[in-house]
Amino acid sequence: MSRAIVVDKTGGPEVLRIAEHDPGPPGEGQVRVRVAAAGVNFIDVYFRTGLYARALPFVAGLEGAGRVEAVGEGVAGLSPGDRVAWASAPGSYADVVVAPAAQLVRVPDEVTDEIAAAVMLQGMTAHYLVYALREVRSGDWALVHAASGGTGLLLVQLLRSAGVRVVGTCSTEAKAALVREAGAERVVRYDREDFVAAAREASGGRGVDVVYDGVGATTFDGSLASLRPRGLLALFGQSSGPVPPFDLQRLNAGGSLVVTRPSLAHFVATREEFALRAQAVLGAVATGELRVRIGGRFALADAACAQRALESRATTGKVILVR
Ligand SMILES: NC(=O)c1ccc[n+]([C@@H]2O[C@H](COP(=O)([O-])OP(=O)(O)OC[C@H]3O[C@@H](n4cnc5c(N)ncnc54)[C@H](OP(=O)(O)O)[C@@H]3O)[C@@H](O)[C@H]2O)c1
Repeated sequence: MSRAIVVDKTGGPEVLRIAEHDPGPPGEGQVRVRVAAAGVNFIDVYFRTGLYARALPFVAGLEGAGRVEAVGEGVAGLSPGDRVAWASAPGSYADVVVAPAAQLVRVPDEVTDEIAAAVMLQGMTAHYLVYALREVRSGDWALVHAASGGTGLLLVQLLRSAGVRVVGTCSTEAKAALVREAGAERVVRYDREDFVAAAREASGGRGVDVVYDGVGATTFDGSLASLRPRGLLALFGQSSGPVPPFDLQRLNAGGSLVVTRPSLAHFVATREEFALRAQAVLGAVATGELRVRIGGRFALADAACAQRALESRATTGKVILVR
């Protein structure tokens, strides 16, 4: 028997329902994979609530790792038994998923299934945020919000290894310790401290070169105010809610600021770019250069608890569903 987490109607975590579900044999160019672990991401919440539209019903989840069971016609280079991981295969909150072969990458022996499932989506996100949005210059200052989160901890580590100095924000002392351990020079409890003042002070009064903001509604204004003239704000998420429309003149007043609203899909759009980022991330994990913190493990049937924990700011690092 094969199970999956099905969404029949959008709403709160309670709409996540476990049901018997088998995606069937792989079609041309597809691979059938037995899922060992699935990643839980904020984008899963956006699809569940309907913030991002998707035809109903659907099986939740996009990310995971597991073992190939069968390959469809025209698939080269993968065979039953191979260990693979992915970041964009709809239906990953399941025992079995059928995914396009082009979306899969082999997992190095040194990397466990759980770690592979934990790092694919957020790791490739951190990778493009650091390397594809702007030229990385050693000695630059970056402000990273929700720095103890899944994406945050990876982002802080990649920035540090590129020589970028980091101010990280978070909401508890326990989270602050993790952000420090990941390499942030300055940690700001933004629940009780002004992060704009802290970012300006850390960067010698000038303002930071880049802000990575996945929090959105509650941080956006302060993120703009933390930048040096011609600095870049990468608004890559909205865990606190969407940012309302704003006056573009504020970019002029702040010093010819640049704002981008990037999405991972556009930075892994070709097989070459996907493979480059996936291999860079898994390779860094295999050598120990990039550490992955799994902050929450839930059974597949408890997917609602997993999403509830993520939404309620109760988690650090990555949340995964295990079999
Ligand atoms: N654009 C892309 O390519 C891309 C890819 C991956 C993820 N993302 C985005 O990146 C963001 C982080 O995703 P993640 O999966 O790594 O999650 P996460 O950072 O592990 O979890 C979200 C964190 O956001 C902070 N937060 C602040 N205000 C919040 C609120 N009102 N409700 C909930 N959380 C709040 C919390 O940290 P504190 O308690 O420390 O404040 C919370 O732990 C999300 O917005 C996600 O959509 C974007």
